[in-house]
Amino acid sequence: MSLSLIAKSIKPSPTLALNEKFAILKEKGDPVIHLGGGEPKTRVPMEAIMATVSHVNTGEVRYAPADGIPALKQAIIRYTEEYYDRKVTPQHIIASGGAKQALMVALQAILNPQEEVIFPAPYWVSYPDMARLIGAIPVPALPEDGTFYPRLKDIEDRVGSYTKAVIINSPNNPTGAMYSEEFISDVVQYCEKKDIWLIMDDIYHRLIFDGRKIINPYKYTKKLDENSKLIIINGVSKQYAMTGFRIGWAVGNKKVIEAMSNIQGHQTSGPSVLLQKAAVGALNGIQSSVESLRVTLENNRNVMVDLLHSFEGVKVTKPDGTFYCFADFSVYNKSSNQLSAFLINKVQVLTVPGAEFGLEGYLRLSYCGSIKDIQDGIERMKWALDLNSPNELYIGDRKLVRDWS
Ligand SMILES: Cc1ncc(COP(=O)(O)O)c(C=O)c1O
Repeated sequence: MSLSLIAKSIKPSPTLALNEKFAILKEKGDPVIHLGGGEPKTRVPMEAIMATVSHVNTGEVRYAPADGIPALKQAIIRYTEEYYDRKVTPQHIIASGGAKQALMVALQAILNPQEEVIFPAPYWVSYPDMARLIGAIPVPALPEDGTFYPRLKDIEDRVGSYTKAVIINSPNNPTGAMYSEEFISDVVQYCEKKDIWLIMDDIYHRLIFDGRKIINPYKYTKKLDENSKLIIINGVSKQYAMTGFRIGWAVGNKKVIEAMSNIQGHQTSGPSVLLQKAAVGALNGIQSSVESLRVTLENNRNVMVDLLHSFEGVKVTKPDGTFYCFADFSVYNKSSNQLSAFLINKVQVLTVPGAEFGLEGYLRLSYCGSIKDIQDGIERMKWALDLNSPNELYIGDRKLVRDWS
């Protein structure tokens, strides 16, 4: 079939494919545990639900402006003041169908085919394919020192005449690593000096642990005017457990936001007005649900990391935020795809292979589910992988017998 070169270069989203696999197994009644998830399970804030329902009840649900309704822009202006100490106007903001679309239209607005975008590895699975969708070149930067914490040199070494943008995601999916203030300040200043776009994917910025403080990249920028090439991406998906509402946003200079709005206007128009209203409800409502989610995740992280320490040879870096732990399981199998397939087939635990995030031998394990799922999931993994464990394992009334060595 004569599909386009771009279509042929794009892989399906591995995390979305895993969600589908989970749904099919669950439907069959299999006792599958999802440690691959990317969404908190807490309830959506009441204000978000009320705002949606009351708009639906008007019976008038129409097109929304391509760049977002005024009420959402006002809520984002407040958010930007509170968390970034920066006063912006509605022309500096676009609301999109999730942070994913905000990122995508940002890349479309700034990258030409063959230009390069650099991001630290391990990276969120979508960055390389988003770049390829434009015909641009993804350039992952694996920290040279073998940690999850890049230094400026890791970025600098990859900058060349085709470099147009850098994407930084901290705290990071999949590692949970929150990059140091020094690194953020270095990158902001370096990109300004080099006149490179810097996209900060801050989607997890409030979900941080151990008393860490949110880092504000604007603190380090000297260009606070319309020449600034700093774009902030954020959204309601993770912090308010509103993944299904698909509302994210970008804050940037007026020209880039206008270009992004033009692109989005032709692509999808503005996000559904109902979902934008819901985001307004969440952003303007009582914020206790975010803190309670953060505390729950910190506790879940502690439980997961403790359990993972019981594996001999598995290397774990304690996550600083998010709801992911990226652990080195290469002692059991160097191929993360094989290991992940083994775990789902043998003990019905769903994990995401590290190869999808640009680092082989690792598995991404999520702790956004229940403590029971974390405990049972890790217990099953331990049984499957540690050959010193008993020969049999009960999952409910099902008896599993080891037939591998
Ligand atoms: C690093 C990162 N950025 C962006 C997104 C997309 O968020 P949204 O659901 O708002 O599109 C995700 C979702 O998993 C993510 O992990």
